[in-house]
Amino acid sequence: MTDPGSPVLGIETSCDETAAAVVGGDASVRSSVVASQIEVHAAYGGVVPELAGRAHLELLMPVVDEAIRRADVRPADLGAVAATVGPGLVGSLLVGVSAAKALALTWRTPFVGVNHLEGHLFAALLDHPGIDWPVTVLLVSGGHTLLVSMQGPGRYRLLGQTLDDAAGEAFDKVARFLELGYPGGPAIERAAETGDPTAFAFPRAMASDGLDVSFSGLKTAVVHAVRKQPGATDSDVAASFQEAVVDVLVAKTLRAAHVSGARGVCLAGGVAANGRLRSLLTDACAQAALPLYLPSRAMCTDNAAMIAAAGTWQLEHLGPSSLGLGADPNLRLAFVA
Ligand code: KG4
Ligand code: ZN
Repeated sequence: MTDPGSPVLGIETSCDETAAAVVGGDASVRSSVVASQIEVHAAYGGVVPELAGRAHLELLMPVVDEAIRRADVRPADLGAVAATVGPGLVGSLLVGVSAAKALALTWRTPFVGVNHLEGHLFAALLDHPGIDWPVTVLLVSGGHTLLVSMQGPGRYRLLGQTLDDAAGEAFDKVARFLELGYPGGPAIERAAETGDPTAFAFPRAMASDGLDVSFSGLKTAVVHAVRKQPGATDSDVAASFQEAVVDVLVAKTLRAAHVSGARGVCLAGGVAANGRLRSLLTDACAQAALPLYLPSRAMCTDNAAMIAAAGTWQLEHLGPSSLGLGADPNLRLAFVA
């Protein structure tokens, strides 16, 4: 039998970060190691699934060893091995899931399969253990843009989502169009630092309309604007584009919090590392007198501490997963009605 307060090893390999972390039963992050594959994919301008899977194979065991060493735990002390089972790239997921099951079997400890999106929702809990529920979470990553009413761990209601591109995908596509490099979000943020966010009046799609968002028109507007004005600086285009995305996300999040009776607001996912989004949302929440729970930037982008945190909760409340549970590239978040 494992002690419910035992540390949990998390493994995350859903996309292009190979990550392992040990989180204590008290939600303390004892180690969090992330090996980025940026160098592997940069030449291609985006993630190449085949290369990602192979890189995970090479990197995962050294990353796991390092996470265990830094946390100063013995495998026998671990309460579980938790790994992302989806959504994500199937080849990448399989590496993490297979390794986690093998380690769990070898160490005679439970295996817990975690939904990557649920992991992102747990990131804010690592930095803010005393959240007053319910909160509205804006989850903005490379593959997803969701507004969720989180009534507590494990209880989620869908409030709104993107009708086309995810926010991170829009950042990545515009960065690729401007040839700013990969990953696109940080590249746009860097370019925007010296730009004028009012240089282009890019559209705020559906700004006064419900809780869903749409970014494909904005991306097209950027392409048209640059073709019409070839002398425009990348920094002005990046700053105006970033402002349009952030404006819409902040307005929708505040509206979602209002209509769902939220007691606070949380940010999650890779785009939550964006400084302009963090700053405008901080101002908007202060004005609305709503507490804002911001995860640290390192906990916003893909990491394994959030997977270990979600796995710890899951083990305690739902029990271990079957070793028959496989990777599911299209896994969805389970919502209550
Ligand atoms: O959550 P994440 O690390 O991986 C997924 O689950 O998708 O999110 C990655 C996404 C990418 O689209 C990346 O460009 C974006 O998050 N991103 C950012 C920033 N850092 C990462 N977008 C805007 N500003 C950033 N600083
Ligand atoms: Zn993610």
